[in-house]
Amino acid sequence: MKHTLLVTGGAGFIGSNFVHHILAQQPDTAVVVLDKLTYAGNLENLDAVQSDPRFSFIHGDICDAETVRAAMKGCDWVVHFAAESHVDRSILNPGSFVQTDVVGTLTLLDIAREYGVSRFIQISTDEVYGNAEAPDGASRPSLETDALKPLSPYAASKAGADRLAFSYWATYGMPVVITRCSNNYGPFQHPEKQLPLFISNAIANRSIPIYGDGKNTRDWIYVRDHTAAIIKILNAPSEQVAGEVFNIGASEERSILENAQTILDTLGKPQDLLAFVPDRLGHVRRHAVNSEKLQRVLSWAPSVRFKDGIAETIAWYRQNTEWMKHVLAKQDKFLENALQLGTKQ
Ligand SMILES: NC(=O)c1ccc[n+]([C@@H]2O[C@H](COP(=O)([O-])OP(=O)(O)OC[C@H]3O[C@@H](n4cnc5c(N)ncnc54)[C@H](O)[C@@H]3O)[C@@H](O)[C@H]2O)c1
Repeated sequence: MKHTLLVTGGAGFIGSNFVHHILAQQPDTAVVVLDKLTYAGNLENLDAVQSDPRFSFIHGDICDAETVRAAMKGCDWVVHFAAESHVDRSILNPGSFVQTDVVGTLTLLDIAREYGVSRFIQISTDEVYGNAEAPDGASRPSLETDALKPLSPYAASKAGADRLAFSYWATYGMPVVITRCSNNYGPFQHPEKQLPLFISNAIANRSIPIYGDGKNTRDWIYVRDHTAAIIKILNAPSEQVAGEVFNIGASEERSILENAQTILDTLGKPQDLLAFVPDRLGHVRRHAVNSEKLQRVLSWAPSVRFKDGIAETIAWYRQNTEWMKHVLAKQDKFLENALQLGTKQ
């Protein structure tokens, strides 16, 4: 094998899509997934690659140095997805976010440095910017050079990890690259997140909770466009990417209400399923990124328009009812409340 790649959080939504994508695209690359299988991790997401001899799975915590040392042994590349990833859960329990997102990242960076890996991609997020705006407060998509003003405990813990990763480049010359992607959607996304939550509830005729006035906007990218960008960065020459930050986005800005209406229309469900609920605490009004830097440096561009990606995603959730049944069987109280199971049927 030319490369052996450690993927942390590879049983989650983006991590599993990434593992499928890179194994299909790079025959000379082996993949080791390290995942704690929290409520968000799901081995079924990796069913399609289990029999590939280039794939292996280690069940463990990124905060545990011995586990990380064993998992990273022999790897020359690391792509670090593992995180507590849901803003609403971070509002209820910030401590677990600092532990996994900051302490876990520190553990990985230390061992990657010890082993001398040749590429470490820190999967950060556009949440680290807070509201998308210019220094004078004018609303516009975030640039890599903008100040970090995270609003939620999730965003703040990711900002800590983002800057910690950068410090390993600045201080030790470790070949770190940081990506800040906008909101992803696609197959295998946990139903706590906005689009699969709306799709699941609409399919089951449950109400669709709309935060506040429904006008907060996000910039949506199909997950495979995100994983394609990561693969480009992994394979790029070090002098083009090491120590750099890249935004990744598809310039598809949409409000919560627009998303809910699209899903109801696609499924032929009535608009009276919409239910306005009190706004999320500290809710960011607008997230959006300018990804011209990645387009310029690596000729990456998104290929899936939202209207096509959302139609495919809705079809995926309609077909994969067993997958959803197994997620719901985990009896996660947070998820049961988020989906309003047991209310309107
Ligand atoms: N989902 C998005 O829209 C989005 C956008 C930009 C960036 N990101 C970032 O991408 C990454 C992946 O996001 P996702 O949506 O796939 O998340 P996810 O919640 O679906 O998956 C996270 C995975 O990490 C694993 N994990 C959690 N804690 C762990 C630990 N201590 N040790 C080992 N594994 C652990 C979980 O079991 C799970 O498999 C995260 O770092 C997130 O911040 C997500």
